[in-house]
Amino acid sequence: MQIIHTVTELRNALKNQTSVGFVPTMGNLHAGHIRLVELARQRASCVVVSIFVNPLQFGANEDFSSYPRTLEADCEKLKAAGADMVFAPSVHEMYADFDGTHLNQSMTITPPPLANALCGAARPGHFGGVATVVMKLFNIVMPQVAVFGKKDFQQLLVIKELVKQFNLPIQIVAGETMREESGLAMSSRNGYLTPEQKNTAAQLQQTLQQIVRQIKQGDSDFAGQERAAVRALSDKGWQVDYVSVRSAANLAHATAQDTHLVVLAAAKLGNTRLIDNIDFLR
Ligand code: PAJ
Repeated sequence: MQIIHTVTELRNALKNQTSVGFVPTMGNLHAGHIRLVELARQRASCVVVSIFVNPLQFGANEDFSSYPRTLEADCEKLKAAGADMVFAPSVHEMYADFDGTHLNQSMTITPPPLANALCGAARPGHFGGVATVVMKLFNIVMPQVAVFGKKDFQQLLVIKELVKQFNLPIQIVAGETMREESGLAMSSRNGYLTPEQKNTAAQLQQTLQQIVRQIKQGDSDFAGQERAAVRALSDKGWQVDYVSVRSAANLAHATAQDTHLVVLAAAKLGNTRLIDNIDFLR
C-alpha cells in the first residue's frame, strides 16, 4: 500500500489505472470507514482512500483543531483492509494559496437547497465546504466509483446532486451505517464522549427506532412524533438540534404518501454533537 502526500505523486501513481474506487475520509478510521473500503474493493481494481481533515467544512467554533489525527494507525487498518493507496495531503497541498490563515479557495460549490435544512441550518457553510473538497478530491483521484456512508445521509444526497448536476462520470455507492453493539452509530467524534456519556449515547438511535416503529404501525403524525422525541431526549439531558421525518429522496418533510422515509436526528451530549438516521420503506 502506497502512502502519498502530494497531488503530483498521486496522479503519477494512478496513471495506468482504469478502475479506481475512492473512499474520502477525515481519518481516525473505525469499522464504518473500513466497510466503505471493502465496498470499494468489490467494485474497483485500485482502491484509493483519502485522509484529509478539511478546514473549509468546519465552522469557526467547531472542532477542526482538536479533530483526532491518527495517520499511522489509520494506514495499518487500511493496509489490512486491502486499500492500494492512501492520499494524505497537507492543507497547503489541497489549498495551494493557503497563507496560514485564509484558505483562498475563492471558487466554491454552492450546495443544493436540500443542504440548507437539518445539519445545514445548524452548520452554515458546512455542506458547501464538503461539496467543494469532494469536487477537488474527485478531480485529483478521478475515480469511476466513490463510496459514502449513509451515516451522513444529508451529505450523501449532496454528493449525489454534485455528481448529477456537474455530470461527473462517477458512480456513487452508499454504505450502511456501522454501529457499536449498543446501537450507537460509529463516529470519530464518539472518542470525545466520557464513559458515562457513551453509555447513554445509544438513546439517540433508540429514539429513532421508536419513531420508525410508530410509522410502520400506521402512525403518520410525523410532527407529533418529532415533538415527543425532542422532549424525551431533552428530558434525558440531550441538547437536541433536530429530530425530523423526511422523504429519503430529497429530504422534504415527509408526507403520508412517501414510501421511502428517513428519520434523522442531531443532538449534543455535553459538547459533543452526534448525528444518526434510519432510512426505511413502509
Ligand atoms: P468522515 O466523517 O471521516 O467520514 C468518511 C466517510 O465515512 C463518510 O462517507 C461517512 O458517511 C462514512 N461513515 C462515517 N461513519 C460511518 C459509520 N458508522 N458507518 C458507515 N459509514 C460511516 O464525511 C466525511 O469524513 C467528510 O465530510 C468527507 C466526505 C471526507 C469530506 O471532507
